[in-house]
Amino acid sequence: MRIVLYGPKASGKTTIGKYVAEVIGVPFYETDELIESTYSSRTGQAKSCRQIYLDEGKDFFSKLEVDAVREIENLDWCMIITGGSLLLNPENRSKLRKNSILIYLTADKKILWNRVSNAGIPPWIDSECPEESFYEELERREEILLPYADIVIDTTNGTIDELAHKIIEKLSEEISIRMNSPNTFGDLVRVTTFGESHGPAIGAVIDGIPPGIEISEEDIQKELDRRRPGQSSITTRRKETDKVHILSGVFENKTTGAPIALLIYNEDPKSHHYDNIKDVFRPGHADYTFFMKFGIRDHRGGGRASGRETAARVSAGAIAKKILERKGIKIYAYSVEIGGISWSGKGSYENIEANPVRCPDAESALKMEEKILEARKEGDSLGGIVQIEIHGVPPGLGDPVFGKLSSRLASAIMSIGAVKGVEFGDGFKLALLRGSEANDAMADGKFMSNHSGGLLGGISTGEPIVMRVVVKPTSSIAKPQKTLNTKFENVEIQVHGRHDPCIVPRAIPVMESMIALTILDAWAKQAKLNPEWAKKWGSPFE
Ligand SMILES: Cc1cc2nc3c(=O)[nH]c(=O)nc-3n(C[C@H](O)[C@H](O)[C@H](O)COP(=O)(O)O)c2cc1C
Repeated sequence: MRIVLYGPKASGKTTIGKYVAEVIGVPFYETDELIESTYSSRTGQAKSCRQIYLDEGKDFFSKLEVDAVREIENLDWCMIITGGSLLLNPENRSKLRKNSILIYLTADKKILWNRVSNAGIPPWIDSECPEESFYEELERREEILLPYADIVIDTTNGTIDELAHKIIEKLSEEISIRMNSPNTFGDLVRVTTFGESHGPAIGAVIDGIPPGIEISEEDIQKELDRRRPGQSSITTRRKETDKVHILSGVFENKTTGAPIALLIYNEDPKSHHYDNIKDVFRPGHADYTFFMKFGIRDHRGGGRASGRETAARVSAGAIAKKILERKGIKIYAYSVEIGGISWSGKGSYENIEANPVRCPDAESALKMEEKILEARKEGDSLGGIVQIEIHGVPPGLGDPVFGKLSSRLASAIMSIGAVKGVEFGDGFKLALLRGSEANDAMADGKFMSNHSGGLLGGISTGEPIVMRVVVKPTSSIAKPQKTLNTKFENVEIQVHGRHDPCIVPRAIPVMESMIALTILDAWAKQAKLNPEWAKKWGSPFE
């Protein structure tokens, strides 16, 4: 994210821009300064922008503006203060608008004229009728440029301090709105998912992946097949192949740096299964809350609240996973409890994919499977607990206080439907321990235990990150239940159709995906925030 300050001459861009940049602690670049230094290095002459324009003409000056934009177009986390005419060029505009907040400074036109004429009339003004020519040009530029502004600040009145703080307030509003985008996840590696379970397709757009990284449809398909319905006797019998199509951002199996768009068609929706519950709120589903919030809902399978949306996350997560694997990061997620049957603690990571419940021990897996089938026979469903281990995370990921890695991971996992709780390390058991038992003592250059689950102060310690996640029993059950219809009358419901009697096994690849996206984003951010750290640990994309 970067801030681009633009607007008419004498609107206060330089003074206010530098002040704001200092207060919020980001570097600033002024395109006029870049133009003057490029000109001086090319010609050996030190001239102001005004003088360059007068001596060399408009076209020459416009080329210098394009060169200045080229110098800074890839910078992030900075303030860019542009000259008054620079963004009139659509090429400059499209480069500087990308990933930016655009702030337009303006002022009363007479005040602007007073400031401009005192500082020397700009060369693009008709000297015969300078004031009218200034107003005309001001109006022309404003008509073109104003619509691009995210924030408009009038600098006619107020001290620099007051105006700067007004900008900072608006900036934080704008940032929080952008960060709050509920269909997008991540800051530097951003994933947006789209689509509903009974629409034509679902998919994801992943942005922020640099060019040159090997990725193929097979890499993504491999992960999607792990989440796909119809894998075993305990998953839904829906026949979705979940075939992924890469629409953009990958050429000859390498990323191009452009947004990667991934599409999965909905092949087997059978929407008529939902006809009889069109006006009824299914217990345990988001039907009631969507209706109360939006006043309209797609009754066919829950729309955006459907577990189907998570296929889009898995497609994006597959890319993050592959990138992290190159850096030696391994994510293991497995069932440790289903319907009251606990994992024995035996077995190995290699066994996880060898049974339908994804448990490391075949014997425990069999018991869990039997329990699920028993519940299904009774028209009911089961929940469970998943343990996640993330190995190979370097120390230093996570940004106190609101960007802690623990809060980011929890938020990523809690965004998955049916997840009702998350704990780290010894989690809720810590309540029973003493400090002497809970602390991870250190000796010989390392931690002697990992009660904290690989996180201290919300920052990764370098030890494995360990989490446990509670998944509730599947809401759609065949047993009769009491509920309300959209007229708020009492009715009875039986949810037929094709549902997992236990969501846990299919939620596991979704959890791995959300973890991979979170770690990749946190690593990319840390590498940018602390170049010294990056010298040791590198960028996740290297
Ligand atoms: C992979 C996956 C598949 C899911 N499949 C189903 C399903 O077949 N039937 C169902 O009732 N809920 C299913 N869910 C859960 C619902 O999406 C979720 O419980 C519901 O939207 C209510 O949200 P909440 O549980 O977070 O409150 C699934 C969730 C995931 C992650």
